[in-house]
Amino acid sequence: MTDKFDLIIIGGGPGGYVCAIRAAQLGLKTACVESRGTLGGTCLNVGCIPSKSLLNLSENFHKVKKNYFEQGIEVSDVKLNMEKMMKNKDKSVQILTKGIEFLFKKNKVTYLRGKGVIFSPTSVVVYDQGKKTSYETKNIVIATGSAPASLPGIEIDEKNIISSTAALSLNSVPKSLVVIGGGYIGLEMGSVWKRLGSEVTVIENLPFITPGMDREISNEFQKILVKQGIKFQLNSKVLSLENLKSGVKIEYQKNETSVKNDILADKALIAVGRKPYTEGLNLSKVGVKKDDKGRIKVNKKFQTDIKNIYAIGDVIDGPMLAHKAEEEGIAVAELLVGQSGHVNYDVIPGVIYTSPEVAYVGRSEEQLKKDGIVYKVGKFPFMANSRAKVNNETEGFVKILADSKSDRVLGVHIIGPHSGDMIAEMALAMEFGASSEDIARTCHAHPTHTEAIKEAALAVDKRPIHF
Ligand code: NAI
Repeated sequence: MTDKFDLIIIGGGPGGYVCAIRAAQLGLKTACVESRGTLGGTCLNVGCIPSKSLLNLSENFHKVKKNYFEQGIEVSDVKLNMEKMMKNKDKSVQILTKGIEFLFKKNKVTYLRGKGVIFSPTSVVVYDQGKKTSYETKNIVIATGSAPASLPGIEIDEKNIISSTAALSLNSVPKSLVVIGGGYIGLEMGSVWKRLGSEVTVIENLPFITPGMDREISNEFQKILVKQGIKFQLNSKVLSLENLKSGVKIEYQKNETSVKNDILADKALIAVGRKPYTEGLNLSKVGVKKDDKGRIKVNKKFQTDIKNIYAIGDVIDGPMLAHKAEEEGIAVAELLVGQSGHVNYDVIPGVIYTSPEVAYVGRSEEQLKKDGIVYKVGKFPFMANSRAKVNNETEGFVKILADSKSDRVLGVHIIGPHSGDMIAEMALAMEFGASSEDIARTCHAHPTHTEAIKEAALAVDKRPIHF
């Protein structure tokens, strides 16, 4: 035994590292174990951050190539330098992951490099390059995240059959890409490669994309993506993938029919969800139980069946989102020192960083109907927003759902320019229990995209000014 901690966190992703910093701020002697070699987890290394770099760069490339000419900016000889683009992305990732190491030092969090295994409720063993070290601890937080799910019998080789990890590091533009799964990853990565020149086809099991999202928004989203040239095979099940030397043959079938089709593509991206990652933690021996979906079972205070072992982020129930994991990390740290940390699961925003962005917070119309809540709807199109109009970004709309009786805002759904940033205002409004009237009476700067929010709030009461 070399050291004794108040808290050891296993996993240095957004849940784990944020939990570590907050715990250290609160005076706990804290260590964070990470096996990847860099901090930041999937999000910083092979997820949110590199994908946003490629989304931004590919959007700029596409705009210069296709849109600017019409708008009076004539650039000739626009070329894609994939190597530079990837290097730029890698540099951003490196700076940000190093930044967490700096934050650990600043907050006196001990960074334990290696694979953490729970030996007992009060000890963690760290394996690093053949070396084994044991650490004692009063509490453990499991924040080991998730890994890409695959389809039965299909092996992701990260060459022709790829997950998001390889899709973020291709060294040339595939002529054709089939994306299996029309969710967050599929549509973000599909957009990147479409803009860089691939023929992209999305095969989705359900009759619509982005399940869980407000259906009106999801339908509009699909229409916009179709206009961008992405093809969709909805309501279709992938039967098999054959790894050919030159690419992949994807066999699929329309649900409720027996008609089989196949597509040949250079690459197939599997984006059918992610599964909690708990491998090698020794959970069953220690007595930490999982549910039938492989998620660690926790109570409202994030405690597992073993009361000093906690779990947060993608390994437990709830949306697999970095910011949800961060909130849980902070809540656990605060609970450990007797404070009343909590997470408001009703107000967790979600954003898809396509162009335009899609963002939401709170409940969809479908959920409100299911919950038997009577609601009012206010909508406002970006077509009628002056800033969107001058920027030639008029697709999409803002939709506010408010309780019919109390006028309390229950959900906000936006498809349109900058919606990923604009949704923060709505999350704040909902945290404060705002009514649509509160939003409608809040002065919004002119000319900004945020005026569409004010107008949608006015539309809840059928009194928008500009539409
Ligand atoms: P997802 O759950 O968003 O979408 C998976 C899609 O695959 C669903 O539409 C589902 O119906 C479909 N599907 C499942 N099995 C299928 C099959 N056999 N054939 C065809 N379609 C099938 O999962 P995704 O996109 O893999 O993302 C994983 C997680 O990562 C999500 O939970 C998401 O929250 C998170 N993420 C978040 C991002 C963001 O916040 N912008 C970006 C990327 C990922």
